[in-house]
Amino acid sequence: LGRDIHYEETVDSTQKIAHRLANEDAPEGTIIIAEEQLLGRGRMDRRWHSPKYTGIWMSVILRPNIPPPKAPQLTLITAVAVVQAIEDFTGLSPQIKWPNDILINGKKVTGILTELQADADRITSIIIGIGINVNQKVEEYPEDLRAIATSLSIECDKKLQRADLIKLILQKLEQLYFLYLEKGFYPIKLLWESYAISIGKYITARTITGSIHGKALGITEDGVLKVEDDSGKVHHIYSADIEL
Ligand code: BTN
Repeated sequence: LGRDIHYEETVDSTQKIAHRLANEDAPEGTIIIAEEQLLGRGRMDRRWHSPKYTGIWMSVILRPNIPPPKAPQLTLITAVAVVQAIEDFTGLSPQIKWPNDILINGKKVTGILTELQADADRITSIIIGIGINVNQKVEEYPEDLRAIATSLSIECDKKLQRADLIKLILQKLEQLYFLYLEKGFYPIKLLWESYAISIGKYITARTITGSIHGKALGITEDGVLKVEDDSGKVHHIYSADIEL
């Protein structure tokens, strides 16, 4: 991965560029990195604050030969890769909140957004967006975000070299992606569960159709969250916000 890197100063969203390049047949592993995004996209149509020179805002184009329902697995692979890279790079112990938030000391440092391009029932490309708060200082966060968001620099009390962390993330992602293509999702699922905070705990999953409260049991082979409610019924959650 990363043999083909598109580096930009300011963009709307690296996801948008990645979609365009994917349509123009960019090879698998193409990376788009920007210093700043004016319209950074988060999950569920939210905005992703992407100030200049402080974070890692990048998108990766992958073209695995898998059916669309398996696409969420790529989000989980990416989360494991980013956690391992942050761990090695900073000595901090990040944890994953299903499906894709990476937290340090309970606050969010990273978001991952996976988008698909498919024709009929075949995936033509998966665009994985990774946003990491690296060198933001506490003062740069609005009051209301300070309780829920943080940066690597705040947590390890020094300024970090973003380029070194990008290199490490791409190495880890490549290793795990090849492991996945060769051995399937099971080894990744075990790794993912070892970093997950919500598994075994009582959570509330807010979905578009309503809330489900219960114990998070784990994830399925497709990366779907299993939650058992008080009556013993097991719900499969495909998309939701999780509260611990
Ligand atoms: C989330 O809501 O947690 C996901 C945030 C994903 C943000 C990244 S930053 C790089 C890429 N480009 C975007 O516009 N979004 C993703």
